[in-house]
Amino acid sequence: MRTQVVIIGAGPAGLLLGRLLELQGIETVILERKSRDYVLGRIRAGVLEEGTVELLERAGAAQRLHAEGLVHGGVELSFGGERHRFDFKKLIGRTVTVYGQTEVTHDLMDARDASGAHSIYEVDDVSLHGFDGASPTVRYVKDGVGHEIACDFIAGCDGFHGVSRASVPATALTTYERAYPFGWLGVLVEKPPVSDELIYANHERGFALCSQRSHTRSRYYVQVPVEERVQDWSDDRFWDELRQRLDPETAERLQTGPSIEKSVAPLRSFVAEPLRFGRLFLAGDAAHIVPPTGAKGLNLAVHDVGLLANALIEFYRERSETGIAHYSARALLHIWNAERFSWWMTSILHRLPELDDFGRRLQRAEFDHLRQSDAAASAFAENYTGKAGSRLQLGPA
Ligand code: APR
Ligand code: PHB
Repeated sequence: MRTQVVIIGAGPAGLLLGRLLELQGIETVILERKSRDYVLGRIRAGVLEEGTVELLERAGAAQRLHAEGLVHGGVELSFGGERHRFDFKKLIGRTVTVYGQTEVTHDLMDARDASGAHSIYEVDDVSLHGFDGASPTVRYVKDGVGHEIACDFIAGCDGFHGVSRASVPATALTTYERAYPFGWLGVLVEKPPVSDELIYANHERGFALCSQRSHTRSRYYVQVPVEERVQDWSDDRFWDELRQRLDPETAERLQTGPSIEKSVAPLRSFVAEPLRFGRLFLAGDAAHIVPPTGAKGLNLAVHDVGLLANALIEFYRERSETGIAHYSARALLHIWNAERFSWWMTSILHRLPELDDFGRRLQRAEFDHLRQSDAAASAFAENYTGKAGSRLQLGPA
């Protein structure tokens, strides 16, 4: 088999890249290790920047998002039970859209199915070859039979544990990493959200987040030690802990019920550099991880993919390698800003083991500074909603 671009991984990054390329007449094959249902069963974050929504529109996969997504004009931060709302709309005229990543993935899969583009699920033993030359190939096994695809480019969109980054010689790669000694215990529940907007809470018992998926479905998190086991957390224990970390009025309003999903996610910051190795590109979680506090993971993956799609479209249309040559540096500039913001938001909101009294007073001072200074609040709003400069222009379809 031969195609133009082989995409490894059918997460949001791989599916979106496939869509943006197909719409420009560039042929792709997606190879995914898991089944479609497995991919759609993963529960992940759900806050979309305006630039992300624009790219999904561009991919022709935003109809349901516009019908069902919830547009939020701000968020609240709570410190020791004192809440403050940051009005993004008023501060900088921007909003975010709350729409689950699972739904984004679903919409992109549907759009790909409708276009007839080739996706192969449940493949084993994917391996990448010859990407340092002009004729890369990708091998895989499907139902016990080995196959090979010849291509022009390989896009490694296969997440943190994927094969793409692992295929690059260690000497060609520099990685930067910070693991946090805590995680988020998350619960999904079929109850209306406690508040119209998200509440991020710093409490002496630890961080908590009140999020949502729709008017009837909520997502809540509490900070726990990273080694904590889900089975030690009954629903009652979770709700008791969450209530204690919220201000009394919010705790009173909280509607609880049986959890429909419960899991612990570790927090990690990670960046691999560079993102291009000859004709192999890394995008999304394959290249970087942010702690979820700034809600940047999906947005960052989408931004990489927008840049990569631009670069590949430019290559096929104009035979220009400029976009390809600049992909890594351009993406990394944006990635490091998101790493910085996610690290900052994580540090001011969590109970960090090494935090002494001085550190706790500094966290409080950050909160007061954000409340008192429109400039500081605007910088927060700009980073949370996605920097204006990160908007991507794609040529006409
Ligand atoms: N071969 C084929 N597919 C693979 C392989 C492999 N060796 N390894 C992993 N995959 C698949 C995974 O099964 C997964 O479906 O690659 C896909 C990667 O998808 P994601 O992990 O969702 O990563 P990405 O598309 O970059 O999306 C980034 O996911 O983790 C969140 O915060 C992150 O929201 C962000 C988003
Ligand atoms: C979520 O809804 O899962 C969510 C929202 C905001 C975050 C992280 C996760 O910062």
